[in-house]
Amino acid sequence: MTIEQKIEELNRRREEISLGGGQERIDRQHKAGFLTARERINALLDQDSFQEMGLFAEHRCTNFGMEGKKMPADGVVTGAGSIEGRLVHLASQDFTVSGGSAGEMHSVKIVQMMQACLKTGSPFILINDSGGARIQEGIDSLSGYGRIFYNNVMLSGVVPQISLICGPCAGGAAYSPALTDFIIQTRGARMFITGPSVIKSVTGEDVTAEELGGPNAQMCISGVVHFIAENDLDAMAICKRLLSFLPSNNLEDPPQFEAEEVIMPDKGLNSIVPLNPKQSYDVRDVILHVVDRGDFMEVQEFFAQNIVIGFARLQGRTVGVVANQPAVMAGVLDINASDKAARFIRFCNAFNIPIITFVDVPGFLPGVEQEHGGIIRHGAKLLFAYSAATVPKLTVILRKSYGGAYIAMCSKDLDADRVVCWPGAEIAVMGAEGAVEIIFRNEIKNAADPAARHQELVREYQESFSTPYAAASRFQIDDIIEPAETRRYLAMALDIVHSKREFRPQKKHGLIPL
Ligand code: HXC
Repeated sequence: MTIEQKIEELNRRREEISLGGGQERIDRQHKAGFLTARERINALLDQDSFQEMGLFAEHRCTNFGMEGKKMPADGVVTGAGSIEGRLVHLASQDFTVSGGSAGEMHSVKIVQMMQACLKTGSPFILINDSGGARIQEGIDSLSGYGRIFYNNVMLSGVVPQISLICGPCAGGAAYSPALTDFIIQTRGARMFITGPSVIKSVTGEDVTAEELGGPNAQMCISGVVHFIAENDLDAMAICKRLLSFLPSNNLEDPPQFEAEEVIMPDKGLNSIVPLNPKQSYDVRDVILHVVDRGDFMEVQEFFAQNIVIGFARLQGRTVGVVANQPAVMAGVLDINASDKAARFIRFCNAFNIPIITFVDVPGFLPGVEQEHGGIIRHGAKLLFAYSAATVPKLTVILRKSYGGAYIAMCSKDLDADRVVCWPGAEIAVMGAEGAVEIIFRNEIKNAADPAARHQELVREYQESFSTPYAAASRFQIDDIIEPAETRRYLAMALDIVHSKREFRPQKKHGLIPL
């Protein structure tokens, strides 16, 4: 063979393999509304930035008719590329090749990308579209997945890991996404261990994002998936936006964007929160007023909606936002809200992202169901995560903040760097009505006019405790500010504490009550 012939052969092979399972299967994929593995990579990465690795990798299985069976690239496209100029490594499962099933070589390819992430400090992205462990390869398939799981854990807290679920993600295979930091799932995708997709309603119908805002939200999403995408292209757009908030690894700071020269007071903030603690409002309105350009990327929007978490920027710097949501269950803390916030806080801490906490919380949700579900164990995670976090922690108490929930929402005692209140804030062991009923029960009962005495005592309690001044007099509060000044205050505080360094006792790891 001449060199020209060899080059021709190379090009022919390359082209053949790049077609994956062939045109007919590609057409089937398109007809179902999906992109192919390679099209997804092209949609995600900067143009012409992809360097593929392992195009010619093949399986070596001879069982169950596999001998000599062509499995182009062994059903997964792997390599490196850039997103907005920043390096990532990724793997994209090819459903047109034996249902994207993962055999020995398929997993070796994925694991090599993960290890390259560790060496180069780059995020890892896995685009899932697979029938799971390749049945014909038996233990080799299981072992392959086992190594993916192990490496997910090695990467955890070192580089961000993002899973996109763009087709089936069945059985034990779903545990790789579950071990990563964020899961983005398209509407057409299916992710499950033994049962139906999490984006079907409990009755099996498809549900829209609007319907997910309803009471079925927690059933539908269950906290497994962080973002729902309309389709593959939307999933790629969500992934890119998410990465724009994150550093490439734990030794870097997140990318910094432009800051405003002067921050003007925002009078709009003075009227969002009603003074009456029983009246609700959407805390996202407060967040949108405070962060840069009203740009807030909410995470797990449909799970535990009584707490809002997400990424934003303040003067060009990424911040993680945690906020009680008075519009849902009065913003009470429950099992799911504690888990949701605690995990997010730990992510922020691992990746050098300061945390801003907006507090308006009546307490922990009372009731047998919560007690039996272990609210003590779950609520403790929130206390643990905030206490263990050494990134800048800034807390704004918007309105009420009672009892254990006051502490759990990053009080000064948990080492917040700033706690600042709005003038309508109330900090107390409990709300006035409940407090008076407990401490003055006899006095009210014996009063000539019990109802009037009750009202009077409530007023007295409110005057002494239901203001921020008692807490400020103990220096549990750094300042009481006009709401309009919140953005300016936080930006200045972030500037001051940005370079904070904290040293904790050496240990293998703390023992968060999982
Ligand atoms: C080998 C597989 C496969 C698998 C699909 N295929 N899954 N081959 N191992 N796990 C092949 C099919 O044989 C078929 O090949 C092609 O992929 C397309 O599959 P279809 O069934 O035609 O497609 P569709 O109707 O869209 O259904 C997709 C599917 C279904 C829902 C994923 O194939 C399915 O249920 N597969 C099995 C899922 C599963 O139980 N996997 C094991 C999970 S356990 P041909 O050549 O006929 O086109 C697991 C453990 C992980 O993953 C280990 C963790 C510890």
